[in-house]
Amino acid sequence: MKIDWKNLPFGYMPTDYNVRCYYRGGQWGELEITSSEYIPLHMAATSLHYGQEAFEGMKAYMGQDRKIRIFRWQDNAGRMANSAIGIKMAVVPDELFHKAIITVVNLNKKYIPPYGTGAALYLRPLLIGTGAEVGVKPASEYLFMIFVTPVGPYFKEGFKPMNMLICRSFDRAAPMGTGHIKVGGNYAASLVSLEKGHEQGYASVIYLDAREKKYIDECGPANFFGIKNNTYITPDSSSILPSITNKSLMTLAGDIGIKVEKRPVPVDELASFDEVGACGTAAVISPIGKIFDPDTNITYEYCKDGNPGPVSVNLYNKLTGIQYGDEPDPYGWIEIVD
Ligand code: PLP
Ligand code: COI
Repeated sequence: MKIDWKNLPFGYMPTDYNVRCYYRGGQWGELEITSSEYIPLHMAATSLHYGQEAFEGMKAYMGQDRKIRIFRWQDNAGRMANSAIGIKMAVVPDELFHKAIITVVNLNKKYIPPYGTGAALYLRPLLIGTGAEVGVKPASEYLFMIFVTPVGPYFKEGFKPMNMLICRSFDRAAPMGTGHIKVGGNYAASLVSLEKGHEQGYASVIYLDAREKKYIDECGPANFFGIKNNTYITPDSSSILPSITNKSLMTLAGDIGIKVEKRPVPVDELASFDEVGACGTAAVISPIGKIFDPDTNITYEYCKDGNPGPVSVNLYNKLTGIQYGDEPDPYGWIEIVD
């Protein structure tokens, strides 16, 4: 097996094992280990018909000390529990979530990208309704599983500025809908607009609040942040996913003396930011170079020298420093996998 670690895309590559656990008769069973990439599924499973499906995205990082680190797994477990509650699925207990992560990472150690390649092992926890129903109601049986795959940066530009398009003709999530949880339907709702953006040469689209189309929601599969006046500003909205990366960046910004504001961010405020970016587990920090608004014909420009701005660089180094073990972990965000 020869993997080109430095040029890994954000894509699927088979690994040796995945782990699974079934919920039947009102309780979770034993964690199972398998090499099969397939799931035997009843044709009337609620995940297929009514979208009872939630997932998570996490990474395992190889340090220079060759220790394997997992970042804030409790937050992912908690978010998956919220997703399950939000669409009436069985909740995966934290202990099961934890055991599944540790087991699947240990079984696939040889796929963890080496330190210094900028890549990581992506973990994809998945929870689906497997019970058969035809009426619109929650299943009584569920499958929780985790597969892993080595990945490079989500946006091919990596830590280089990329361009985004403001999306006014599609909404990914409604104010009282499911945007705040990580369920498959939100991503299905984003596919047409994302493809339209890609066809026009943009890395992603920026969704606006569905009610007024006045405020920024998020950047495809990542949260948005802007920097000005020594302040880190990120949208407060009921229809965006609470990003664990964004939450961490808010803390790290405070540590380096940058103020933090979480509040509605009007589109026209884009003109006043010094730096803007997208953040998430897959995106890490992806600096934005240009944002085009097709309705006003305005292009907002940043990173005019072609490089990410100083605050983005600082935050990127702090965050990835903790994740790869180069920096101390003052908040207990890291668990070492033995
Ligand atoms: N927003 C959306 C829609 C996402 O899919 C993700 C990825 O999980 C994020 C934001 C970033 O969240 P996190 O930092 O927890 O990965
Ligand atoms: C992540 O950042 O982990 C995500 O889940 C984004 C994904 C939809 C590619």
